[in-house]
Amino acid sequence: MVSLIEAKKEIKQIEQDVAGCRICSLWKTRKNPVAGEGSVTAKVMFIGEAPGYNEDVQGKPFVGKAGKILEELLKSVGLERKEVYIANILKCRPPGNRDPLLEEIKACTPYLNKQIMSIQPSVIVTLGNFASSYILEKFGFQTEKMGKIHGKIFRIKNLLFDAWIIPLYHPAAAVYNPNMKKVLMEDFKSITKVL
Ligand code: URA
Ligand code: SF4
Repeated sequence: MVSLIEAKKEIKQIEQDVAGCRICSLWKTRKNPVAGEGSVTAKVMFIGEAPGYNEDVQGKPFVGKAGKILEELLKSVGLERKEVYIANILKCRPPGNRDPLLEEIKACTPYLNKQIMSIQPSVIVTLGNFASSYILEKFGFQTEKMGKIHGKIFRIKNLLFDAWIIPLYHPAAAVYNPNMKKVLMEDFKSITKVL
């Protein structure tokens, strides 16, 4: 168990490290790094893919259209943005919002892993394919197509961790698709089942 003071210190250190990071080449094209944001005592941690245009400009995760949807979804299950923690697989925006490259994921995920260890959430909600397959594989699960696993609840129980993983579609998929929003709303209820 990390104490609150330690967790705060660790999260601050990660933010500083990300701010100065040049491990992969994405630092060259980013406007601002987006380490993550939220409560260090969060029970629920959301993991998205990578900053987009607005996130890159503001240095904060999920502040564009997908962020609006995420906030609506949070509200639908009685959660507030400030009580959860929100991070991404990549901390710098890929040019033109292209998919993350494997080498970028390898370079950047040590930051995410540290965030998970500091916050120790009881629920990890992964948004989209990249976050879902990274986290499921990290904890020893086999990844399957999102169509098959969205909204399902996976249990992690080992010496270091006792938590749940819930893979969901990425909220960006619902921006122009009301049916996808319905699916996400339904899947979000999985979070309240384990909280
Ligand atoms: N999409 C993501 O995956 N992350 C963000 O922070 C914003 C949009
Ligand atoms: Fe460093 Fe991650 Fe940014 Fe690459 S994406 S420069 S690894 S912080």
